[in-house]
Amino acid sequence: MAFPIHRLRRLRRSPQLRKMVRQTHLRPENLVWPMFVRPGKGVRKAISSMPGQFQVSLDVLLEQCQQAVEVGVPAVLLFGIPEEKDAIGTSSWDDEGIVQQAIRCIKGRFAGLVVITDVCFCEYTDHGHCGVLRQLPDGQMEVDNDATVANLVRQAVSHARAGADIIAPSDMMDGRVGAIRQGLDQAGFQQAAIMAYSAKFASGFYGPFREAAESPPKFGDRKGYQMDPANADEALREVALDIEEGADIVMVKPAANYLDILWRVKERFGLPTAAYHVSGEYAMIKAAAANGWIDEKTCALETTLAIRRAGADLVLTYYAPDLARWLKEGL
Ligand code: PBG
Repeated sequence: MAFPIHRLRRLRRSPQLRKMVRQTHLRPENLVWPMFVRPGKGVRKAISSMPGQFQVSLDVLLEQCQQAVEVGVPAVLLFGIPEEKDAIGTSSWDDEGIVQQAIRCIKGRFAGLVVITDVCFCEYTDHGHCGVLRQLPDGQMEVDNDATVANLVRQAVSHARAGADIIAPSDMMDGRVGAIRQGLDQAGFQQAAIMAYSAKFASGFYGPFREAAESPPKFGDRKGYQMDPANADEALREVALDIEEGADIVMVKPAANYLDILWRVKERFGLPTAAYHVSGEYAMIKAAAANGWIDEKTCALETTLAIRRAGADLVLTYYAPDLARWLKEGL
């Protein structure tokens, strides 16, 4: 005898009624804007597979940060495109490196803006893998876990020394969160937080990013360190280990195709949880909208809301400035 007593449409009748019972909210405060910084002056190089996103020099980076501040986006995530690459990514822990300069620049102008740095090697190595390579007895090349972890600590400490608020390791080496925590503490940076890319899957949706960061692997793929998209229990294990090792925020990446993982991570651990709406997920909305097949604003808002609804406290998204602006305009 549910119907006609129960009529769920009663609360959907007007925008006001819908607003009153709305469960999940999207706010600028929940968003992080990833940016790509490179050497030079006045550089604003379009990334063709990510319409609306650019590789920028420090001066233009500051303009983007100004934009973030104006629309209420509280944090940026920095990726560096260095002048020089080598076999182990030495330039990534240079105190005068591009990311280190960017952090100091931002902190000098916008002290309150939260600066998060991606800590990895694929942008800094000439082979494009996320760490130091070693050859196994059978001739196979692999990324040497422990040698890479030692270098990750150097990079993380260098970012903290430049003033980064949050260090975000995205390499997927085992034990890196614990090592970075210890390294930061020993160097006197107890205040620097760690946002771990905990459940990072080997995804085809990183395609456009590799153009953006100039970081595609020259041979092979990343399946030897990033996770198999089929594995959910392993994702929970990765998250549990990162928490034990001292992660302050855990992340699921990609976001929209991994909402089940996100839900389970938030349910099980209850930590501040981030999700990365990655380059390919962004590019798909852009491309479909450019063809007139979907409405960009509606779909970008809906996707980001879905990510929040599934459990993300924070969403890292290239749509951050647009979303914040749309939210400000009152949808
Ligand atoms: C670096 C890194 C990647 C992304 C974030 N950090 C690329 C990769 O792992 O291949 C992807 C971000 C995106 O696609 O938007 N390791």
